[in-house]
Amino acid sequence: MTEMLSFKDVELYYDHVYALKGVSIHVDQGETVALIGANGAGKSSILRAITGLAKVKSGSVHFMGSRIDTLSASDIVARGIAMVPEGRRVFPFMTVKDNLLMGAFIRADKAGIRNTLDSVLERFPRLKERYTQPAGTLSGGEQQMMVIGRALMTKPKLLLLDEPSLGIAPKLVQDIARSIVAINRDEGVSVLLVEQNSRMALSISNRTYAMTTGKVVISGNSKELLHDDRIRAAYLGGEIVGAA
Ligand SMILES: Nc1ncnc2c1ncn2[C@@H]1O[C@H](COP(=O)(O)OP(=O)(O)O)[C@@H](O)[C@H]1O
Ligand SMILES: [Mg+2]
Repeated sequence: MTEMLSFKDVELYYDHVYALKGVSIHVDQGETVALIGANGAGKSSILRAITGLAKVKSGSVHFMGSRIDTLSASDIVARGIAMVPEGRRVFPFMTVKDNLLMGAFIRADKAGIRNTLDSVLERFPRLKERYTQPAGTLSGGEQQMMVIGRALMTKPKLLLLDEPSLGIAPKLVQDIARSIVAINRDEGVSVLLVEQNSRMALSISNRTYAMTTGKVVISGNSKELLHDDRIRAAYLGGEIVGAA
């Protein structure tokens, strides 16, 4: 497989907090890769380092063969990396339509934007129903779909998702999980998925990295890790893995 993202020996600090203590991960073309770990483990810091929102202290980040940790956040978006940040930031007084179009700000091709918008609305029919309503009137799950749709409006090669299931009704978590699988499969978008819902992340990804306080401690094939005793004890709350 072709390596798309290479995140190598990265150290990252916030003032005196040593958030990433030499982390290496990679994402190959076409893969869905999960990052799991408790609150504060450093998952969001990895996404911030990839997108240029936090500067790495040492190590490097390469995307499609070129170094990106020296680029600005907007140049990194232009290379084809889109992020859905934690806590789904929506513009509550703007319509669903305008929220989605905000995602296309880096694009000039009107016809292309229209096509992408149509495919986003097809992917998330609930957004089509609520197209002209203010985003603030949507449920949490619908807002999450909208911000994923907004990220897709940039036509990314790699989609970074930061805890898309957080605070969302269980039924919609399933819908969102299915949408992530479909986006990866149908549109060939590679996905790096950060989740505290480890079970969901392990079930829909090819590979998983499990973190503890600034380090990757376990990594491997997601289906295998679902049955790994260390993962079950530390990341799945010791639950018995059933058929789901
Ligand atoms: N802006 C910040 N300033 C200071 N410390 C931060 C900041 N953001 C995160 N941290 C700290 O960095 C560590 C990693 O945080 P984060 O990457 O957000 O973890 P996660 O996403 O896994 O919950 C934590 O100890 C957190 O408190
Ligand atoms: Mg986080």
